[in-house]
Amino acid sequence: MLLQGKTAIITGGGARRGIGRATARLFAQHGAEIALVDNNKQALADAAKEFALPHRVYECDVANRSQVHTTIDQVAGDFGHIDILINNAGVVSPSLIDDIDEAEFDHIINTNIKGNFMVAQAVVPHLRAQKGGAIVCISSVAGQLGGGVFGRSHYATSKAGIMGMAKAFARELAADGIRVNAVAPGTLDNDFTKGGMTDEMKAKIAANVPMGRLGTPEELANACLFLASDMSSYITGATLDVNGGLFIH
Ligand SMILES: NC(=O)c1ccc[n+]([C@@H]2O[C@H](COP(=O)([O-])OP(=O)(O)OC[C@H]3O[C@@H](n4cnc5c(N)ncnc54)[C@H](O)[C@@H]3O)[C@@H](O)[C@H]2O)c1
Repeated sequence: MLLQGKTAIITGGGARRGIGRATARLFAQHGAEIALVDNNKQALADAAKEFALPHRVYECDVANRSQVHTTIDQVAGDFGHIDILINNAGVVSPSLIDDIDEAEFDHIINTNIKGNFMVAQAVVPHLRAQKGGAIVCISSVAGQLGGGVFGRSHYATSKAGIMGMAKAFARELAADGIRVNAVAPGTLDNDFTKGGMTDEMKAKIAANVPMGRLGTPEELANACLFLASDMSSYITGATLDVNGGLFIH
């Protein structure tokens, strides 16, 4: 029970086979009370069946500043305190450079970067009030490799940005007892690409991974638990690679 008595906000926690949902399950098993945040009504309704009280779900677009502040205030009121943020909501697109219009670029950056930033900004005062806390931001190997088989330049930009943002937060918030780390997942076999990844693409990715397979949301949840709990009490500003050994040279 690594998170007994803690309240954890998990953004992008709606999707049934997502990293956020798997993290919510694991955190709840470890005693945390969960505030699941997502902008997908249907996914949230499904999540609400699994996460009954004391857990709660909140509809919120992380790219919308007023929704973010209203939601975080509501979470603080409902739970009385906030201890952990898993900054996980994200979107991806396979568009190539010539096909990315301004609206698509803004959608990826506003969700993945501005959204992550604004949620952290709204949560930090609540962590300070607790005299500490932990934030985990979900990056991607795309930010380290320059995209990959699916995510392209705008996605890679956003995920590289998240690593820098997490380090800057870590530097600035260390004196407040707030640790901030990033996790960089390799490709998972879930619904993130909304069916856009063919079996052939998956096989191609797996062939490049020393462990010979894609990752699972549960394996990412384990990394989030480590970084959100006191198990990692002297770790801040780190990026944890969870990618089956992709960077072994
Ligand atoms: N699945 C992968 O292969 C993979 C690899 C590397 C990194 N990641 C990252 O992991 C994170 C989670 O991805 P996942 O695999 O669980 O995908 P997913 O699509 O299953 O879950 C993402 C969730 O975020 C929600 N969301 C999207 N935009 C939102 C917004 N504006 N406001 C609130 N919620 C929003 C979606 O509704 C969804 O429930 C993402 O940041 C993604 O970039 C995923």
